Amino acid sequence: MMMERRACECVFWLQNLGWLSQMGKAAATLSNPLLFQSKLLCFSLIYLFSSLFLALHSTLPTTKCIFSFRSSPLHPVQGPLYSYPPSYGEHKHAVPTTRSSCNSPVYFSDYGSVFEEIKQLCANSTAFGAQSALRYMQGSAESFGGNLSFQKRESYFYHREDGTEIPCGFMRRFPISDSDRISMEKCDGVVVASAIFNDHDKGRQPRGLGSKTLDYVCFFMFVDDATLKTLHFHNMVSTTSEEVLKIGAWRIVNVSAEYLYKNAAMNGVIPKYLIHRLFPNSKYSIWVDAKLQLVVDPLLLIHSLVVKEKVDMAMSRHPYFVHTMEEAVATARWKKWWDVNALKIQMETYCENGLQPWNSNKPYPTDVPDSALILRKHSLATNLFSCLLFNELEAFNPRDQLPFAYVRDKMSPKLNLNMFEVEVFEQVAIEYRHNLKGGGSSLGPKAKMASSDLLANGTGGGCEGYLLKMWGESHD
Ligand SMILES: *[C@@H]1O[C@H](CO)[C@@H](O)[C@H](O)[C@H]1NC(C)=O
Ligand SMILES: *[C@@H]1O[C@H](CO)[C@@H](O)[C@H](O)[C@H]1NC(C)=O
Ligand SMILES: *[C@@H]1O[C@H](CO)[C@@H](O)[C@H](O)[C@H]1NC(C)=O
Ligand SMILES: *[C@@H]1O[C@H](CO)[C@@H](O)[C@H](O)[C@H]1NC(C)=O
Repeated sequence: MMMERRACECVFWLQNLGWLSQMGKAAATLSNPLLFQSKLLCFSLIYLFSSLFLALHSTLPTTKCIFSFRSSPLHPVQGPLYSYPPSYGEHKHAVPTTRSSCNSPVYFSDYGSVFEEIKQLCANSTAFGAQSALRYMQGSAESFGGNLSFQKRESYFYHREDGTEIPCGFMRRFPISDSDRISMEKCDGVVVASAIFNDHDKGRQPRGLGSKTLDYVCFFMFVDDATLKTLHFHNMVSTTSEEVLKIGAWRIVNVSAEYLYKNAAMNGVIPKYLIHRLFPNSKYSIWVDAKLQLVVDPLLLIHSLVVKEKVDMAMSRHPYFVHTMEEAVATARWKKWWDVNALKIQMETYCENGLQPWNSNKPYPTDVPDSALILRKHSLATNLFSCLLFNELEAFNPRDQLPFAYVRDKMSPKLNLNMFEVEVFEQVAIEYRHNLKGGGSSLGPKAKMASSDLLANGTGGGCEGYLLKMWGESHD
């Protein structure tokens, strides 16, 4: 079992080495898994290729998780995109990372060829033909997502080819200016989006961009008035609302959040999960939480983590958790969501309706993602998943890791998902701490021990079976 997994990882690793196949047909035969049943051979090959690779490319970073091909004159060349005023107090609080090695390194192909390939993919509308098969419900409701009952939400999990309109937010107008809306609709290739509501984070510029990326990829940052006030205070945007707001790579979109949800985090999950609707003509997207700074070109990321992997979506695994319940307990324990009783009802709803703890029969390595970075191909499956997940967030709370496995495991068609290693995540993006002031941050160890409430009194609780299986699994 262990050995098979190793063999698979080895093949995966080798498949990532795009340059290998460029070396000729001979290399193609190497991807036959039979060759790698031997662990020893596998490691020798990894060692051989790594050494060769390192010897040939002295400009490589010293990390072991991502490998880039730096021979292209087009990449990476961008200087600093924007100089933040010193008063903005930038980049002081990166969260330290401890990891440096991983099982499945990611290889980035040559920037020039990636650019051409993605451009072609985006231009080929037949490759995304299925996208139009999803039709969205129109309407006018009290809340942005329509406040649907459980039965109603559930009834959309199985996609049928009968033109059924599915609920997917936008039951109210998304309150932005027409010029922003038009420019978002024009974005018909790759979009990178982020958001800061209630001044919770600082804006950061992407790094490592190739020379054509800024012209080809759209960068959009959604902010509310509270955030704009800070940006204006530091003279980073003007307040005359006539002009397009830009900070470095980002086009800043002023969202009149008072017409949306009261909870700033809930407003943040609108662009995070409904990005395919805000940019209806885009083909690929990258969501970047504002606490992150991208340090690898978005086209390279889409290419290596989505296109080459032939998946709908890619996201990182949670560094520690594999079971949804572990995340739910942590959410209660650290007061990431204040209403523990509501968390309990949420988890019981999922347990009673089919959520299982993670087990090795699931076609995914974990039930808990780190969702700070989400890479999507805007395929039918991804769009459906995003809509269904958003509906759960509106129904319960904006903690998007909680409904993740429930929606993923239950929906149809199935989502092809690349849940890459946290070590890769840490090397494609730098994580900073949230602004200390600004609402909704965790209260730290002083918060009341709430996790016991969540697990207590299994009697009749819908998650009893889940917990028994989860503990059974972990004692193996
Ligand atoms: C466009 O996409 C379709 C479906 O993926 C594929 O069969 C076709 O070869 C592509 N055409 C071009 C010009 O890339
Ligand atoms: C959602 O609908 C229920 C009734 O079905 C109502 O009690 C609740 O206030 C509504 N919530 C919102 C946010 O509209
Ligand atoms: C942003 O929108 C608000 C309305 O929600 C408006 O009052 C404000 O002037 C706008 N700010 C800028 C900088 O355009
Ligand atoms: C567990 O249930 C019993 C009776 O059903 C109740 O008295 C007790 O307070 C409950 N404990 C917790 C932690 O909810």
